[in-house]
Formats: sequence, structure tokens, C-alpha cells
Amino acid sequence: MLRFEDVNYIISANVFYQPEEKMASTIKVCMGSSCFARGNSKNLQIIQNFLENNNISAEVELTGLRCCDCCFKGPNITIDGIEYNNIESGMLYDILEKHYQNTKDFNSGEK
Ligand code: FES
Repeated sequence: MLRFEDVNYIISANVFYQPEEKMASTIKVCMGSSCFARGNSKNLQIIQNFLENNNISAEVELTGLRCCDCCFKGPNITIDGIEYNNIESGMLYDILEKHYQNTKDFNSGEK
């Protein structure tokens, strides 16, 4: 289980992380206390598992965000600029599958 302290470290590390190459895709997970407590701690693990299972971890930049004062819509996740709100763990895998539905094309750089 991911601990809140670990997430804070990840967020802190990402603030200073500047990838040399632009990643093909970006997933931003709100790690503010409200979104974290309401599901994004579990959602983060689901995303990591999805990326690993589809062999696209290297192509997708996964970052944490601080609270954007839109907690009432949370838990909040943004995938390639598309904001998803009130994300329940049960629906997240479907959202990821739909977004990355052509992972073979994605892996070959055709997406
Ligand atoms: S904690 Fe996510 S928007 Fe506030």
C-alpha cells in the first residue's frame, strides 16, 4: 500500500524532474489530501499496474499534482489534457483502456 509520505516524496521529486525528451503521453494524478483519501492512492496503483501490464511505462509520464482547489470534483486525474473527475477505481481501468486502446500503435509511435 502506498503511504502518504511516499506520495509526497514522489510529488517533490517530480517538481524537479525535467525529462530530456517529451513523453508521448502524460497522466497527472491529484495527490492533494482530499483526492488522495477519496481514491487516488488506489487509482495511482491501478495506473502503474496498467502501464506496466501494457508495457507503456517508458512512454507515459506519470506525475502527481498538488490540490487545485477543485476537491469537490475529486478524485481528479488528467490524461493528455483530458480532465476526469470523480474517478472511482472501478471505472479507471476502462478509462485507461479506452484512452490507450491501440497500445500496439502507441508503442510503435503511431498514436
Ligand atoms: S485534493 Fe485534489 S483538487 Fe483538492
